[in-house]
Amino acid sequence: MIHHIPVLLNEVLASIPETTQFLVDWTLGHGWHTQAILEKFSHIKVLGIDRDPLIFQKTKEKLADYGTRFDTQQWSYADMDILTNQTKPDYILLDIWVNMEHYKDTSRGFSIKGEAPLDMRFDINKGITAKEWLTRAKPEDITKCFVEYADFTEPKAQELANAIIRARNKSPLTTTRQLRQVLYDCGLGDPASSIIFQAIRIEVNQELEQLKVFLQKLPDLLASGGKCAIITFHSTEDRMVKNCFKELLQKGWNLITKKAIQPTYQEIQRNKASRSAKLRILQKNIS
Ligand SMILES: C[S@@+](CC[C@H](N)C(=O)[O-])C[C@H]1O[C@@H](n2cnc3c(N)ncnc32)[C@H](O)[C@@H]1O
Repeated sequence: MIHHIPVLLNEVLASIPETTQFLVDWTLGHGWHTQAILEKFSHIKVLGIDRDPLIFQKTKEKLADYGTRFDTQQWSYADMDILTNQTKPDYILLDIWVNMEHYKDTSRGFSIKGEAPLDMRFDINKGITAKEWLTRAKPEDITKCFVEYADFTEPKAQELANAIIRARNKSPLTTTRQLRQVLYDCGLGDPASSIIFQAIRIEVNQELEQLKVFLQKLPDLLASGGKCAIITFHSTEDRMVKNCFKELLQKGWNLITKKAIQPTYQEIQRNKASRSAKLRILQKNIS
């Protein structure tokens, strides 16, 4: 298992009340947050959920020793209905991003490194692959994706979209190496190419749509007085969380983090991947 360092771990642990009984970690990943929670609070039961069946399976085995205190399911956090027949959780954690394994295991197509089929799906059994999207997408959709998810200017995004269309008209873009070459030919280096790969991943997995659905259903999900903690790494996702929390504040919920919590200088030194993380926590009103 490739080591993924959990982000803002102490801050998450400190925000969990002693009274918590049932916690859902909806982005289980390698289970580092969950394991620390199970260790710190011996009475808490955790349901760990992840959209990625490969990562989920490994973590299920890794945490099996916690017995009945830990259960797992493979779903997306947009598939909230799976919780309707369960006790409502009094704490929900979302740590929204990729797992280090997605980048380091280059076979899944998430990374600009190596050569792999352009897949990029978290759930390898559902939805269209990056290859399918790049084959079918209209130039204006590709441009929109790069403007909205990669913060590229409209002219640069259009130039990249046109280059992709020209390349795919010659021969289908099927591997990460081919896509990377198109981006290099447009003058992009590795960091900018990684941002384009990330934008395509956000599109393929419909990540913003998934978060939107989660936030809409959150009020029905959480137990009275329960807390929801969300860690984001992308400014659009953080804005969505911030706006949703503001709306719920108007409905009597309690904003635990007036400003988003960010990693300390020491954490960023230990784990560079944490640098853009933002944690926001909200507590449901008691009804
Ligand atoms: C940053 S990692 C979580 C790391 C985890 N907190 C840990 O400590 O190991 C994010 C995880 O969310 C999963 N994921 C991404 N989108 C998801 C979704 N819509 N629903 C559920 N899980 C999702 C990814 O597969 C990935 O494993």
